[in-house]
Amino acid sequence: MKALVLAGGKGTRLRPLTHTSAKQLVPVANKPVLYYGLEAIRDAGITEVGIITGDTGAEVREAVGDGSRFGLEVTYIPQEAPLGLAHCVLIAQEFLGDEPFVMYLGDNFLVGGISDLVGAFRRGGYDAQVLLTRVSEPQFYGVAELGPAGEIIGLQEKPAFPRSDMAVVGVYSFSPAIHEAVRAITPSARGELEITDAIQWLIDNGRAVHSHLVTGYWKDTGRLQDLLECNRMILETVEPDNRGTVDGLSEITGRVVIEPGAVVENSVLRGPIVVGADAKIQSSYVGPFTTIGPRCVVQDTEVEYSIVLDDSSIHGVSRLAHSLIGRNVEVSRAEGTPNTYGLMVGDHSRIQVRA
Ligand code: G1P
Repeated sequence: MKALVLAGGKGTRLRPLTHTSAKQLVPVANKPVLYYGLEAIRDAGITEVGIITGDTGAEVREAVGDGSRFGLEVTYIPQEAPLGLAHCVLIAQEFLGDEPFVMYLGDNFLVGGISDLVGAFRRGGYDAQVLLTRVSEPQFYGVAELGPAGEIIGLQEKPAFPRSDMAVVGVYSFSPAIHEAVRAITPSARGELEITDAIQWLIDNGRAVHSHLVTGYWKDTGRLQDLLECNRMILETVEPDNRGTVDGLSEITGRVVIEPGAVVENSVLRGPIVVGADAKIQSSYVGPFTTIGPRCVVQDTEVEYSIVLDDSSIHGVSRLAHSLIGRNVEVSRAEGTPNTYGLMVGDHSRIQVRA
C-alpha cells in the first residue's frame, strides 16, 4: 500500500499567510500540520509516499526532504495548477502503479491516526473507503447522502443546499479502480476534477464504496477557526516540560512547554501553552491554548487562544485572543495623541479592533 499526500492548492482562506507559505506548513503547537499526517501514514505501516506539490513546492521539499526523517521514502509529484483532487490521482498514476493507496489531504488533521482505517480498508476489499463526520456547516465540504443501510448513495462537492450534515474527511483509501474513475469524469463548475465526482462514478458503476463514520476529532485546517481549534486539541495533550529559564517572579500553571533557550520573566503563563525555542516573554500574561513560536518576543502583553509564528514581537498589547499572527510580525501599542491605530497590513489580512 502507498500513500498520496496532497500539499498543493492555494490556501486562499488562510491568506495572507499563504501568500508566502504553504497552508500545509502552518504550525500547530509549533509543528507543521503536514508532519502530523506524515507521522500517521508511517504509523500505519506505509513507507512509500508521493507528495503532490504546487506553487509552494520548494518550501514543502525543504521541510520534508527525502522523508527519511519520518521513516518514509518520498517522491515529489509537481502539479502545474490546482486542477482538483482527482487530477492529483491522474498525475500520480505512474507513482501509484497497481497498488491500493491512501490519499491524505496535507491540511487535514485526524486524531488517533489512520492505522485502524487502513486495516479496515485492507480487510474489506473495497474500491474506495470514505471517512465521514458530522459538521455544523456542511456547505464548506464534500457532503454524503446515505441510504437506509448507511450506504453512500450520493456525494456533492460543497453544495449550496446540503442533503445531510455528513462531511467527507480528507483521508480516502482507494483500489486501482479509481484510475478509471478519474479518467472518466469531467471538470466541475469550478473547473476542477473533483474526487467526489470520481467516487460518485465508482458508486454509479457498481463498485464497492464503503463509508466509515469518524467520531474522533477531525479538522480541515484551511480556516482560521479550525486551525485555532486544532492548536487547542494538540495543546491539551502536551506534557509540561520546562527546558528554558523562568524567573522567580513568574507564575506557571497547567500544561506549559517551554522550549530550550526561551526566557520567561515576571509573567503569568496559564497552560496549555507551548513557548518556542529562544522566545522571550516579559511582564506578560499568556493564557490557555496559545502557541508562541521560536524567537518571538512578548512584552507587557496579554494573549490567549492564539498562534504566534516565528520571530514575531508583541509589545504593550492588551488583549489579543483568537488570533493568528504570521512570521516576523510586529504588533505594538500606539503612544500619544491622536488616539489612532497605525497599521501596515499585508494583502488579504483580517483585523478586528475594539472601536
Ligand atoms: C476537500 C474536498 C472536500 C472535503 C475536504 C476535506 O476540499 O474537496 O470534499 O470535504 O477537502 O478537508 P478543500 O478543503 O480542499 O476545498
